[in-house]
Amino acid sequence: MEKDCFIIESLRQNRFWTQIMAEHSLFIGEGLPCNETGLINEAVQLESIFANLKVLSEQTPSNREAVFGLNEQVIQALNRIINFKSNVLNRIITCNIGGSNLPLLIDHVRREAIRFRTNLLKLNNQINTPLAELTLEVEVFWLRIMGDHARFIAHLLDPSERLLVEKAMQFGDRFETLRLQGVDLQSALVPRDFENHLLPADMMGCPLPPGFDSLPRPYVIPRLQRFNEEVLEATTQIRDFKQAASDLVKACKVLSIISPLLANHVWREAQMAIEELGILERKLNPSGN
Ligand SMILES: [Fe+2]
Ligand SMILES: [Fe+2]
Repeated sequence: MEKDCFIIESLRQNRFWTQIMAEHSLFIGEGLPCNETGLINEAVQLESIFANLKVLSEQTPSNREAVFGLNEQVIQALNRIINFKSNVLNRIITCNIGGSNLPLLIDHVRREAIRFRTNLLKLNNQINTPLAELTLEVEVFWLRIMGDHARFIAHLLDPSERLLVEKAMQFGDRFETLRLQGVDLQSALVPRDFENHLLPADMMGCPLPPGFDSLPRPYVIPRLQRFNEEVLEATTQIRDFKQAASDLVKACKVLSIISPLLANHVWREAQMAIEELGILERKLNPSGN
């Protein structure tokens, strides 16, 4: 990866996701039962750690060493927040805690943290993913995130908001259909990815015994370019839906338990998805046709 690319991409990731991580800490903290003081304190600490890292990422100069160091520091904080989210998720899915955090929400925010950490580790270790594979990874990641958001919105709206709930569920279905198409393209174009998922998770990234290296390399086809356009279009539409929902929440014109910050949070994530899909679009169509 070129030097500039490393700096620009690292700062872009950090400036966006550190704020998102601070907000996750706040959201999880708010959903915990008030007698869980240990977990609540951890949430408060993580919120301030990531808020400080957000400030640091804005002040980090565009030089390689400073950016490398920033990435390292954020990776350390991510280890801590991933542990925290794993802890909370474990307590919820084994029915050992109350509160109002949905299990899928905790899994969702942990996926966002795991992907952020992976992106920083890839940057600091100069790991590049081939374009066709990267495209599908980015698309499938965001399609799942957008589908989750649609269903969270549907579940946090008051049931009396029938039309908005229905609209949100339709977005959920649309993103799930697109994600299945993404998974189909993934095994067609990146068979190694399919193979990897047949192996125990602990073996991923380990040297494989002989016999595992004869699958075709990933490659770009025109259908993948068209798919990216379809994903971009659907994401733009849910971004606009979130904007409308956010305006209603702010004006207190909708019955829901969605806070203005949560509405804005999911809007910003759609905006980030659009930005990343746009970057891919330019790489997939370098001549602009
Ligand atoms: Fe998030
Ligand atoms: Fe999200």
